[in-house]
Amino acid sequence: MNETTVFPPPKHFTEQAASASARSMADYERMYAAAASEPERFWAEQAAQLDWSAKWNKVLDWSKPPFAKWFVGGTLNASANCIDRHLSTWRRNKAAILWEGENFEQRTLTYQELHRKVAKLANAMKALGLKKGVRSIIYMPMVPEAAVAMLACARLGMPHSVVFGGFSAEALKTRINDLEATVVLTADASLRRGKEVLLKQNVDEALKDCPSVQHVIVYKRLGRMIEMKQGRDHWWDDLTFGVSEVCQAEPLDSEHPLYVLYTSGTTGKPKGVVHTTGGYMTQALATMKWVFDLKEEDVFWCTADIGWVTGHTYVVYGPLAAGATVLMYEGAPDWPKPDRFWRIIEKYRVSIFYTSPTAIRAFIRQGDDWPNGRDLSSLRLLGTVGEPINPAAWQWYWKTIGKERCPIIDTWWQTETGGIMISPLPAATPMKPGSATKPLPGVALELVDEHGKAIDKGKGFLTIARPWPGMLRTLYKDDERFEQNYWSQYPGRYFTGDTAVRDEDGYLWVLGRNDDVIKVSGHRISGVEIESVLVANKNVAEAAVVGAPHDIKGEAIHAFVTLKANVQPSDAVAHELSDWIVKEIGALARPERIHFVAALPKTRSGKIMRRLMREIVTTHKVAGDTSTLEDYSVVVQLSQQGKEEDEILGAKAGNKK
Ligand code: PRX
Repeated sequence: MNETTVFPPPKHFTEQAASASARSMADYERMYAAAASEPERFWAEQAAQLDWSAKWNKVLDWSKPPFAKWFVGGTLNASANCIDRHLSTWRRNKAAILWEGENFEQRTLTYQELHRKVAKLANAMKALGLKKGVRSIIYMPMVPEAAVAMLACARLGMPHSVVFGGFSAEALKTRINDLEATVVLTADASLRRGKEVLLKQNVDEALKDCPSVQHVIVYKRLGRMIEMKQGRDHWWDDLTFGVSEVCQAEPLDSEHPLYVLYTSGTTGKPKGVVHTTGGYMTQALATMKWVFDLKEEDVFWCTADIGWVTGHTYVVYGPLAAGATVLMYEGAPDWPKPDRFWRIIEKYRVSIFYTSPTAIRAFIRQGDDWPNGRDLSSLRLLGTVGEPINPAAWQWYWKTIGKERCPIIDTWWQTETGGIMISPLPAATPMKPGSATKPLPGVALELVDEHGKAIDKGKGFLTIARPWPGMLRTLYKDDERFEQNYWSQYPGRYFTGDTAVRDEDGYLWVLGRNDDVIKVSGHRISGVEIESVLVANKNVAEAAVVGAPHDIKGEAIHAFVTLKANVQPSDAVAHELSDWIVKEIGALARPERIHFVAALPKTRSGKIMRRLMREIVTTHKVAGDTSTLEDYSVVVQLSQQGKEEDEILGAKAGNKK
């Protein structure tokens, strides 16, 4: 399959699309042109879909680029927009959250119930002295209380930072300290593939060295015996028992920070991406409607964890602001059997399903009997996010899951963009497998060459030429890094860090990152962060970490390590280093392979040439420019060694069979 294979949106889908949806490319083009000619007017119309306590007096303040302000002077509250405004409608008793635990427990929260839980937690936090501006860390499993925690913080104007439960105590500590958080919301434990993940234990470990934290609120998920430190730790249930179910949502400035989400960058230190309230919520709600063709009766399931931006925008803020019924599942996709996801779709009659290409590739490997054994007839729209989807995986998704009747939205966006930026509009855009198609209305996406000149066709760097409401405002406490990271490469433009191709029809094909960020199963991991962890180990002299293509995960982590003179390479040392990375960052950073090498390829000025290492793990050859390399013999050794390692591993795998 190539760029010429086009799948028009299924006719019946277009006929029954929600009234807010574009139904033809002419609709899309009209919307796009209107947004391009009067962007502020266009976004103001979208912002008006939210409930504001005071209306803005200026749509956009771009007087000090790259620091944007949207809907200046307006006040609103994200939690009120996700909950309170539905309470005066029939939706008050609509299911807001359908939840299933990995152990098959089930719960349903209506909008009214969600409201009560959020208000009680907010009141309980107030009673602890927590208030607007105070920062919270949320380190929770996928339970409804995770959303409750986010919304209760938002209600009081306390910026939250959700840390993915797969991050280690050490990674949690770094984030707590960077944010100087006062409160941590967590749970005793959670389930993953039948095993208990001891979240509170990780919090205790992290808090040995986090002077800012005064309170820990612990949700009882499994009822495990855990240590509770008196005065600091509170059981969620005790703290909210008998507390008032009414809590006025704080009217907050449109630019009040809603959350900080840490993501990997090109240095060792994670970046605290700051999102504010009015603009972010505008983008979340608008994209929810345009891209997902959302209808009242939909059961919407985005499989992302709330620890990632997808979980923020399309598990919590977007769908709840739209009054949708959201499905949340606690555990692994293949537990207890590989059909768990299909079983959930069958049971809850899920109609919109949004997941990652990695998950799709893993399903393909497990075989068609699993989805074929379940009734998937409730599905009407499918989506993917997080990494490029290969056309073969797209085709499988289209046929085996969607039965050739569900459009697939391949959505491109980033933690920094706050919401979807490139995607088909499902009732309008003809799809090409592997292409995220075209930018959404209001998104001034441009490809540029290395000199920053906009190009119409071919390969270029993906940039955004105008501010958009959901854009990150800065990096937490680091305006300089924000400017440097995103706005310095091509003045006046936001640089996404991605490379893409635009074809003859104006379709975009995102090829991947143009920096040292590795996308493992759609999760963003910094090679440099793993390198700094490795060199902090007593055995390691130098390290270089790169990504190599992987059949399921998209990319896998390869670490090249030179050991200190007194240490000999061995399987034991490789295991020790892998475990060390898991301890310092989390299991998601465990390398696929550690290669022990005598030396790393470097430029004459001493810079490690990661590009060459990437070529070596991908092709075992180096075809690119090596003129700045200091010692070519290192590359020859590495590629030879790579081949030998592959042969040895191949032989080992053969023996096992
Ligand atoms: O390289 C792009 C890739 O994921 C990066 C953003 O990662 P993160 O901030 O973790 O957000 C992921 C979920 C929004 C992008 O710079 N990416 C994301 N979606 C796609 C994609 N690459 C290709 N196609 C996509 N649909």
